[in-house]
Amino acid sequence: MKNNNRNNRVVIFDTTLRDGEQSPGATMTHEEKLEIAELLDEMGVDIIEAGFPIASEGDFKAVSEIARRSKNSTICGLARANYKDIDRCWEAVKNADKSRIHTFIGTSPLHRAIPNLDKDQMAELIHDTVTHARNLCDNVQWSPMDATRTEHEYLMRVVEIAIKAGASTINIPDTVGYTAPVESADLIRMLIENVPGADEVVFATHCHNDLGMATANALAAVEGGARQIECTINGLGERAGNTALEEVVMALKVRVDIMPYHTKVDATKLMNLSRRVAIVSGFPVQFNKAIVGKNAFAHESGIHQDGMLKNSETFEIMRPEDIGLSETNLVLGKHSGRAALRAKLEDLGYQLADNQLKDVFVRFKELADRKKEIYDEDLIALMRAGEDAENDHIILKSLVVKCGTHGPQSAEMMLIIDGNEMSTNATGDGPVDATFNAVKSLYPHSAKLQLYQVHAVTEGTDAQATVTVRMEDKGNISTGQSADTDTVVASAKAYLNALNRLHIRRSRLGQDKKEINYKDTAV
Ligand code: KIV
Ligand code: ZN
Repeated sequence: MKNNNRNNRVVIFDTTLRDGEQSPGATMTHEEKLEIAELLDEMGVDIIEAGFPIASEGDFKAVSEIARRSKNSTICGLARANYKDIDRCWEAVKNADKSRIHTFIGTSPLHRAIPNLDKDQMAELIHDTVTHARNLCDNVQWSPMDATRTEHEYLMRVVEIAIKAGASTINIPDTVGYTAPVESADLIRMLIENVPGADEVVFATHCHNDLGMATANALAAVEGGARQIECTINGLGERAGNTALEEVVMALKVRVDIMPYHTKVDATKLMNLSRRVAIVSGFPVQFNKAIVGKNAFAHESGIHQDGMLKNSETFEIMRPEDIGLSETNLVLGKHSGRAALRAKLEDLGYQLADNQLKDVFVRFKELADRKKEIYDEDLIALMRAGEDAENDHIILKSLVVKCGTHGPQSAEMMLIIDGNEMSTNATGDGPVDATFNAVKSLYPHSAKLQLYQVHAVTEGTDAQATVTVRMEDKGNISTGQSADTDTVVASAKAYLNALNRLHIRRSRLGQDKKEINYKDTAV
């Protein structure tokens, strides 16, 4: 194995804001993207793929602003294999201290068929587009999409062309999550050993998780010589998602004995980032998710607890504090003061100005009047509920629901829409249906409900319910969330949250326009 691919530093390339955000329903607002980028930058991620600038005006603005604000990370944008995409991408990333253009094209037989190019025509296009990107930016990454299903001969040929045209990082995507660890390592090794110029560039791995092997495949690729892992927080991403950043970072830390590589990521910031991404994307983290799941450090069975009390290493291979999880879940209640609330929120990663704290404290007291013990999860839900409220176009003023054994159930609702109070009474098949019907009658819309999901935030009958609602309107998807000790109130707020987000998204894009997805092939 040669130069770049022999040192033991693994570059972390985060694509939460591009591959992750483009997954249906995971849309983030402009401010949320800036916040996540800032946290990634502070955590020590080497490269942030901030978006796909040609996709929409909103994406362009977010990538440009992230580029302007970045302190440490290289800011990268995605571009398809055409000059227009590449120029737009450069416009967006050029103001960063360190910028990168990432251009790609699907090289497998199935992907070559889409733009209807033969092998030679595609090879020429790769040469021209990488050269064009390189003339704009001295840091160019090139990806043969669906590399793991591309003929090896052709893959070697196009990788060589991209290197000669000036790409300094060659990313090998397993776009459909098809490869397996042995194959993943072998593919990178084969390219490094056979492609002229391979020792001059960094090889990257980009794995999707369709068969649940994304993390294993990424780590195997490192064994094969890759020195950049592309990943997302919480493994966010289309279908089954991407390699989870927290998993590769912690696997490399904990098993440094057999994988002698290191990253620059400050792992103690992982938990906070995971929570923020779960909240802003509306994709909750599964309870038993490795590293950041609610149960990842919970030891409930008697034998486990006994062992843990004697020596925590009995059942723990890493400590909660290694990923920034505070050891004690200090419970707040109605007698807790502002200082305790501030300390707890800081622990959870929220830095609040005094006036913000004042507002949160009022909502905290309201919750504490209804719920005896306030856990971390309650506070996170409370913070989330207040986040969008300021700019909301539709606000819930009041809701009274009648339900019982003999239907139909009814909902008496008052909304404030663009400052105007409007009320109605609607019936439905159950209290939630009646509530949603009331919203529809006050705010007629064509958006369709795709998902309605309720989770109890903590245990007990006074637990808050977190409700997630996903809506679709003309190809635009929006996820709303809310929490309340009253499930129907939480449902109404989550529904309105999804509608408010659709409204923001539509105004950002211009009426009824759909964003371009990177898979909308345009060469
Ligand atoms: O999965 C994939 O192939 C991608 C490319 C754009 C790198 O996301
Ligand atoms: Zn991908």
